[in-house]
Amino acid sequence: MKSTEETRDARRSFPTLAREIVARSDAADQRLRRVPFYRRLLTGKVTREEYADWLIQLHKYVHLTAPASEQALADAMAARAAGDDAEAAQLRAYALECAREETGHDEMLIADIANLFGVSRDEAFGRVAREADAPSVLAYKNLLDTMHARFPEGIIGVGLALQNLAILESDEIRAGLIERSGIPGIEGAVVFLKGHSGEVEAWHAEEDAKSVSWIHTAKERAAILFFADLSLALFEGIAFYLNEKHDGPLVEAISESEQTLEPALTMS
Ligand SMILES: [Fe+2]
Repeated sequence: MKSTEETRDARRSFPTLAREIVARSDAADQRLRRVPFYRRLLTGKVTREEYADWLIQLHKYVHLTAPASEQALADAMAARAAGDDAEAAQLRAYALECAREETGHDEMLIADIANLFGVSRDEAFGRVAREADAPSVLAYKNLLDTMHARFPEGIIGVGLALQNLAILESDEIRAGLIERSGIPGIEGAVVFLKGHSGEVEAWHAEEDAKSVSWIHTAKERAAILFFADLSLALFEGIAFYLNEKHDGPLVEAISESEQTLEPALTMS
């Protein structure tokens, strides 16, 4: 098993576009750590309802993204691979492997929600359906249709960005919840986080970084970067929404907990 430092070092050898995405998701991680709700999540200081609210928003985008986006990429590569494009064939095979691997990840979230409340799968699914989408989730859903139809390679950027956040955060969130939340039965409600541990996601990120080097056109590379940014905006948008819902207005909360405000957040 690789140490956290080895995992983080490995990212330095990624192709430049992949390194740019890693740098942007590192910055997103830093911004997330300034959001009081998210900081409580990282340290396990959330209630059962608050943790469930986060899982619900994750489910709302995960079940649309995986495995459908990988399948869309594989389909797009199929025609090129039928010609003499060896890289398209490699990318198609890789996307199909990812589609297979991602199947059922949305159900991990439903299982976590069901276990949190001691209810059936159907009841957990009902909770997800009844809860409103965070604005960023709703916007992401609409752009996801465009990605599938026009820029299926964008999923590589989404994957890299969110895998990098998982490398930086998922083990910390899981440990915090188990050690400090005091939520009854929490060990049975961190299946999704365990399935997306730093070690698992580091392997995926290395593979995704490799696949970036098979993409050469300006349009496709721009799509990869745009959809990476979009997925970070989606994720931060969820944290911001849940902060407003549970912790109150962000600027005041940061000012109270940090005493000093960064210049960018002051109302001058
Ligand atoms: Fe997944």
